[in-house]
Amino acid sequence: MKPEEVRQVLLSGFEQDPRFLWKLEQDESQRICSQYPSREAMPAQAIQRVIELENKNIKYPQWGIAWGDWKEGKKLVDSARGGRFASYGFSDKPTDKGGNCYACHLIEKGVPGGTMGPQLTGYGKRYGITKENMNSPEGLEKLKTVYKIIYNAWHAYPCSSMPRFGYHGVLSPEDVINIATYLLHPESPVNK
Ligand code: HEC
Repeated sequence: MKPEEVRQVLLSGFEQDPRFLWKLEQDESQRICSQYPSREAMPAQAIQRVIELENKNIKYPQWGIAWGDWKEGKKLVDSARGGRFASYGFSDKPTDKGGNCYACHLIEKGVPGGTMGPQLTGYGKRYGITKENMNSPEGLEKLKTVYKIIYNAWHAYPCSSMPRFGYHGVLSPEDVINIATYLLHPESPVNK
């Protein structure tokens, strides 16, 4: 199919609603990614450009980077309702949102999940996050790093199949901090 034909099919499937229509126009990063069959096939310059663009597409919680509520994060991780535009009122209820992370990741021990993304079991342990060091500058830096990956995976993994959850408005900054807390907190079941 030619790009214009694909566009017509997509248009026909969407209501002509400006809240969703903008998604039919590729942004600059998507245009770059679409030119190559894989990240491995991308020239360094193209990879650098996507990283530069996507670093600008990250917003932080109003109160800055601080540990959130891992139990709230777990709810979002477990929810298969990923990709719904909850913040646009597109879903059944405003609470009907999630990351659908298990579609691609193995996370808690013994819980079935996908293997498209790397295994996240024991993620906080892997980085040595403990009750004692979690509020140190290093602990908070790690939280920020993981926050950024979940908010906008493309700033770290250009053109990844991992969705840019925050950028697309699927998850709010508060949701993302709660999810990062769930992955890293020493009391979270991810690290038991
Ligand atoms: C469609 C598949 C997909 C979904 C859904 C997905 N991810 Fe990922 N994720 C990936 C892939 C693939 C990577 C590896 C990055 C790359 O190389 O492109 C990754 C990487 C990561 C990493 C970095 C891992 C490391 O090695 O440090 C974290 C953290 C992560 N994902 C968390 C999440 C969370 C939390 C969710 C749900 C909110 C989620 N992912 C949803 C595919 C996915």
